[in-house]
Amino acid sequence: MSTIGVFDSGIGGLSILNEALLQSPGHHYLYLADSAHAPYGEKSTQWVTDRSLLLCSWLIKQGCDAVVVACNTATTQAIALIREKFPEVPIIGVEPGIKPASATSQKKIVGVLATQNTLNSDKFKLLLASLNDNCEFIQQAGHGLVPLIEHGILNGPEIESLLHQYLDPMLDQGADTLVLGCTHYPFLQDVIEKVYGDRLQIIDTSQAVVRQLFRLIKGSESKKSGKVDVFSSQDGGILLELAQKLLPHPYLLNAKAQTVSI
Ligand code: DGL
Repeated sequence: MSTIGVFDSGIGGLSILNEALLQSPGHHYLYLADSAHAPYGEKSTQWVTDRSLLLCSWLIKQGCDAVVVACNTATTQAIALIREKFPEVPIIGVEPGIKPASATSQKKIVGVLATQNTLNSDKFKLLLASLNDNCEFIQQAGHGLVPLIEHGILNGPEIESLLHQYLDPMLDQGADTLVLGCTHYPFLQDVIEKVYGDRLQIIDTSQAVVRQLFRLIKGSESKKSGKVDVFSSQDGGILLELAQKLLPHPYLLNAKAQTVSI
């Protein structure tokens, strides 16, 4: 059994934890939400980098054998430095799935919904440049979505109005595929499907990220059942309530929740 740390600015990384529990439940998972400081999407690069290093270091001190940076924003700003600082620990990042999106899109027009920091980052620009095909990417920052999701609001008029504001212009420009480039957004998949039906194919990379995690720590799953502990820089109890609502996994019922000051 491995001890696996997963962190995000808030509850977004629970979409990655969900997939990890589906693929390989026999581990001890530590989920850390920096809810006191969410959202990260418009904070400075230096701030996100320093904070991500601190959170990662905290998880490693708790005994984590591997850490998932379950946040596109933190990955783009900080993953290189995190890997440099902790060379002995497998560090897995997330990035918008533009390659699978380009392969999926019939019209070769893809919308990318992500935070402003992710879209502005050199890492994302390099990713786009590395894709050697004729796919067009319409980039849109999802301003205002993360704070609503952090409050457990996953549908309703406010969310739908923001989605119309961000996604309708993509459809008007011919997009048939949408990349969810922020780990919070998979929690909006139901409402996006409700509003747009099959007009947009949704690309979320959670499964691929988790497959990569288990490639790196392969062979370490025990036959015993695993467990989950959740930690928040704001309120562990509220985090656990939201996690139980979002992830219907039995481990969440017995999860330990703690508020931590990092
Ligand atoms: N969940 C994050 C991401 O994947 C961060 C969102 C935010 O804090 O703005 O980018």
